[in-house]
Amino acid sequence: MSEKIVALGSDHGGFRLKEEIKNFLVSRGYEVKDFGTKDETSVDYPDYAFQVVKAILNKEVEKGIIMCGTGIGISISANRFPGIRAALCWDSYTAKMSRLHNNSNLLALGGRIIGVELAKDIVETWLTTDFEGGRHERRINKLDELAKKFWEEYLRGDK
Ligand code: RB5
Repeated sequence: MSEKIVALGSDHGGFRLKEEIKNFLVSRGYEVKDFGTKDETSVDYPDYAFQVVKAILNKEVEKGIIMCGTGIGISISANRFPGIRAALCWDSYTAKMSRLHNNSNLLALGGRIIGVELAKDIVETWLTTDFEGGRHERRINKLDELAKKFWEEYLRGDK
């Protein structure tokens, strides 16, 4: 799986920013897998989050960038799935920290919140910052361990 392939997905609120980010990534030598949406017709953000989540969980790509109007709905949607760590970022610092400490594999952006140039800066920082590991590894492992424990108990009928 190449680090140079990035999955993209958005609803109508993130569509314009997705197109800008797609051109930016291509200009930087990345290959892009665009899971839509294709225009500004109103659609539902969970459907587009799920397409990008599947590409990550099926190991087609390592990272993806998802966008809706605020970035909130699409990040909430993506974070429902084990193995996904979607970070809603609004500046380069949050983008950097989400890689260093959280090993985020999805970057969420608000297409109606941030400007295109800031978004490009965030994307560049996010794609080029490596996970620090160490104590942070233990913490991110707990995300899925705790969820797994919950679902096992729930499905057994203990909850
Ligand atoms: C769509 O109008 C808007 O609700 C959506 O893009 C997003 O901002 C939701 O969190």
